[in-house]
Amino acid sequence: MRLTLIRPDDMHLHLRDGSALPDLVPPLAHRFARGLIMPNLAAPVTTVAAAAAYRRRILAAVPRGRDFEPLMTLYLTPATPAEEIDRAREDGHIHAVKLYPAGATTHSQHGVRRIEAIYPVLERMIAAGLVLSIHAELPDPAIDPYEREARFIDTTLAPLVERYPELRIVLEHVSTREGIEFVTGASPRIGATITAHHLLCSRRNLFAGGLSPHYFCRPLLQSEATRQALVAAATGESPRFFLGSDSAPHPRRLKECARAAAGIYTGYGALELYAEAFAAANALDRLEDFASRRGAAFYGLPLNTATVSLEQTEWTVPDEYPFAGETVVPFRAAESLHFELVP
Ligand code: DOR
Ligand code: ZN
Repeated sequence: MRLTLIRPDDMHLHLRDGSALPDLVPPLAHRFARGLIMPNLAAPVTTVAAAAAYRRRILAAVPRGRDFEPLMTLYLTPATPAEEIDRAREDGHIHAVKLYPAGATTHSQHGVRRIEAIYPVLERMIAAGLVLSIHAELPDPAIDPYEREARFIDTTLAPLVERYPELRIVLEHVSTREGIEFVTGASPRIGATITAHHLLCSRRNLFAGGLSPHYFCRPLLQSEATRQALVAAATGESPRFFLGSDSAPHPRRLKECARAAAGIYTGYGALELYAEAFAAANALDRLEDFASRRGAAFYGLPLNTATVSLEQTEWTVPDEYPFAGETVVPFRAAESLHFELVP
């Protein structure tokens, strides 16, 4: 069986930088027409000039003959001037501004501690039509790690949406029922990405056969019932849930250690992994909507014109992939997948 889709867009991913780019960009460009590139580099991408330089480094790693468009984002800090938003609008390559609550995840220490501090920037974003992309977890160490998304919604996101109803917001990598319900009940200006790993796994996987850091990501994998609710949202009728893989590789050395880094590498085969999840839900006919139409519509981008095809056939994921002179252990390493990209 062969499945052909309009070329999809990955509306949330981490490409890292430098010598990681030749390892991470080609598999992405083979599957996706566009990707929304997260700005949480070691030196965060806080200015339009830095985003333009990063975009050029990404494009230099796109294999010859492929067209791939990096949709750039800016990393919001308490010091981001409102004028940077004007520059972003003029530049044309910046599609979203990313809000990391300080302390929530990898390289988030430059992020936002008091939401009030960024009100002037948010007001300028409304005028510029830029999307606010949010890592929606409250980083307070006193809060249970499994409740951080729900608590962020109550304390921060719901009041923000009430204050700025015109602002377009993406609740990135939604992982809880509270998140799904919030987005479902909100205006069409509020959307959410869903990762392949949150559709395929629950916290059972984290503990099965011994603690595995390769299932550790933020937000955390939740219960099996929540995983099923996420599958229902991804395969359901709402146009506001769309594909964002959150592929987030770390070298094996930083995963297989005490204090493992958060992040799961799915970018080597993200589309195939989503196909696995949709096939398991008997909903392959919905994959094109989720992967190729809804994200573009939310971001006001034209539908892609070319197509990609997946073949239903079994193959084994390698134990590791090259990654910036080291290796990364991919999601589902040494396991079988049942869809393969047609080259
Ligand atoms: O698991 C994660 N890894 N979650 C994030 O929000 C960031 C990401 C990363 O950059 O490694
Ligand atoms: Zn991410």
